[in-house]
Amino acid sequence: MKQFEISPEGGAATQSKTGTRRLTVNAAFLKDIKDDSQDLKMLLDQIIPLTCHQQTAANHWPELIALMSELRDQLALHFSLEEAYGYFDDAVVSSPQLSVTAEVLRSEHPFLFAVIRDLADQVSEVCSDRPEQVNLFIQQFDSFRRMFEKHEENELELILESLDDDLGAGD
Ligand SMILES: [Fe+2]
Repeated sequence: MKQFEISPEGGAATQSKTGTRRLTVNAAFLKDIKDDSQDLKMLLDQIIPLTCHQQTAANHWPELIALMSELRDQLALHFSLEEAYGYFDDAVVSSPQLSVTAEVLRSEHPFLFAVIRDLADQVSEVCSDRPEQVNLFIQQFDSFRRMFEKHEENELELILESLDDDLGAGD
């Protein structure tokens, strides 16, 4: 089974290609996308208990293969929606720091997607009667889950900062 590497560079900020325009967030849309992501939450709620223990995972392997494909597709949709409606370029951003954070978080999407795509490919290659392969897979999934949860947490913080920023600008 191929093993992916978790590279810290994956989350590095990208240079703005828009010159003076800066990346910022549409806090209301970004929050709506998160609130509406019920399918994503349901999938994670199904997958996480199956990957808590090697034997549980092995007993549900065909189900796990199907769920991982669904998760990959759902995350592709989730990231596209966020990028299309949640992030945007703005000529005037009152907080440059917010813009830097937005760049960093948006740039994490391709990396997170590459990890879940690789995991969805790898899961079908694992022999579920080989505990070491199953264990490796569940460790890798757990790493992904923690990275994704951290990303989501940071985006929620960004939404709150952006809302504060808007309120501050209106004073
Ligand atoms: Fe995101």
